[in-house]
Amino acid sequence: MKHWRLDDVPWDRFDPARVDPAMIELVKAAAMVERNGTEYARYLNRVFRDDPPFQQAADNWAEEEVQHGEALGRWAMLADPRWDYRAAFERYQTGYKLPFDAPSSIRGSRSGELIARCMVEIGTSSYYSALAEAAAEPVLNEICRRIAADEFRHFKLFYDHLRRYLGRERIGLPRRLWIALGRINESEDDELAYAWHAANEPPALSYGHRRCIAAYMSRAAGYYRFRHVERGVGMVLKAVGLKPRGRLSDAAARLAWRLVQRRRRRFLAEAAALSPAQA
Ligand SMILES: [Fe+2]
Ligand SMILES: [Fe+2]
Repeated sequence: MKHWRLDDVPWDRFDPARVDPAMIELVKAAAMVERNGTEYARYLNRVFRDDPPFQQAADNWAEEEVQHGEALGRWAMLADPRWDYRAAFERYQTGYKLPFDAPSSIRGSRSGELIARCMVEIGTSSYYSALAEAAAEPVLNEICRRIAADEFRHFKLFYDHLRRYLGRERIGLPRRLWIALGRINESEDDELAYAWHAANEPPALSYGHRRCIAAYMSRAAGYYRFRHVERGVGMVLKAVGLKPRGRLSDAAARLAWRLVQRRRRRFLAEAAALSPAQA
């Protein structure tokens, strides 16, 4: 069912001279979150327990997410042979638990769950597009392009199911927007921050949320260009049921771009103040 396999990646073209060292840390952290996809599929299977077609789709989706983790992890070990992907992921799994063993969606409805899933796929599709465009190292470039294509397909998958559920659940625009913005905001929670910690920090250093999220976000934000934010905003509007193009989306994209820049500056300042070297 997958659109590509690890063997399709031209690993022998790896060129250490073209590796951007700043990207290695981001790739290591991203590998943690991606590899954790099976955990999320378990939760989705519970939330959609009487919907076998969706459960099947969620299982296929998780397989692709796990493969993203495997590809990024393997690349990171080429770029930094001292790094151990399996050991880092074990640390991640031990220290970070997805905060839901709930029997139904923590978003209050299945439509809400699907809107939240759409937001995550918007985040990942724009992130890997941005990384792919910035990655000069040919293998990483290829991996990020393949992953970005998967993430756009994942958005479409959850969006199609969302439309089906909205037909029966009928939740209004304010609620849809609230869930969407809430999920976007959650990107600053522990999931990414702890991934940064497990993937990049020495075991002797204890986890600090502010330090780790600032380290991750300040670096990641530097790769975004306006076009990535603009496309992401259009997808957010589409997911909540608004027109993805037009005056509203233009204004929202400009606002989102300003927010991304402002947050980046804040995270850069925090990362400098909180970096372990300062402690
Ligand atoms: Fe992914
Ligand atoms: Fe995805």
